[in-house]
Amino acid sequence: MPTSSADSVRLTSVSVDFPLGKSTGSGSTVAALVDIDVTIGVGERVALLGASGAGKSTMLDVIAGLVAPTSGEVEILGSPISALDTRALREHRARVGVVRQAHGLPGQLRVIHNVNGGRLGFWSTWRSLTSLIRPHGRADVAEALERVGLPGIADRRTDELSGGQQQRVAVARALIQDPDLILADEPVSAVDPTLSDDVLSLLAEPTPQHRTLVVSLHDPELARRHVDRVIGLRDGRLAFDVKTADLSDVQLDRLYRSAD
Ligand SMILES: Nc1ncnc2c1ncn2[C@@H]1O[C@H](COP(=O)(O)OP(=O)(O)OP(=O)(O)O)[C@@H](O)[C@H]1O
Ligand SMILES: [Mg+2]
Repeated sequence: MPTSSADSVRLTSVSVDFPLGKSTGSGSTVAALVDIDVTIGVGERVALLGASGAGKSTMLDVIAGLVAPTSGEVEILGSPISALDTRALREHRARVGVVRQAHGLPGQLRVIHNVNGGRLGFWSTWRSLTSLIRPHGRADVAEALERVGLPGIADRRTDELSGGQQQRVAVARALIQDPDLILADEPVSAVDPTLSDDVLSLLAEPTPQHRTLVVSLHDPELARRHVDRVIGLRDGRLAFDVKTADLSDVQLDRLYRSAD
């Protein structure tokens, strides 16, 4: 458990409205998140659950600083994101590992470069560029790939891998970064059931610096097995925020039942 009382993530009255029908200029919006208050402590492992469109990816993108809230305040690792200058934001990003839903890996690159992408925040521009010619840190990359069950694929082109394999490359990239906070958006949606447990164990494993994990999942049973706390989102609003042990089948049933 965390030794520090600091928060890893704090959302205060966060709302996100996305403009709809930009091309038609209709001016209407969709409320992807509505007045969300969530505080996540250092070292906590938290799953976001909710039906498709509930706001899970939006919430992770807001925490990652990729989507600015329409209103409200976002603090990550003790700093309000909106107050960071470019340099501080870069240093900050190096401490946050992101596994996006569409894994976000440049497909034409070899796997080794994509995994090394997790370290770019710590490398000089020169080191990053020379690594594209002669990759640095081969042994670390090989180890990270082995941990996600993909030994010996460092030199394969990323877009020649299956969807589930690419997801695991994205996880290897986040692990090699050794961040203080991992934000993972459905990191195992295309991975076999047994492997899904292995990958989530890696993401959720305790680390010396008490890494925090926020992960969105479609399968509540995976959440039950791997995280301490579950947050349910329904139509952009908090439906529940409970310890995993207290999550009831009734709460889950309500979460996924379509509004009627
Ligand atoms: N860039 C965007 N522009 C307009 N609307 C968006 C955009 N991104 C998300 N939305 C809308 O915001 C709402 C929340 O979407 P979000 O992607 O966060 O849901 P989700 O819970 O991650 O769903 P899924 O399980 O399908 O990944 C949805 O109504 C979606 O249509
Ligand atoms: Mg999503």
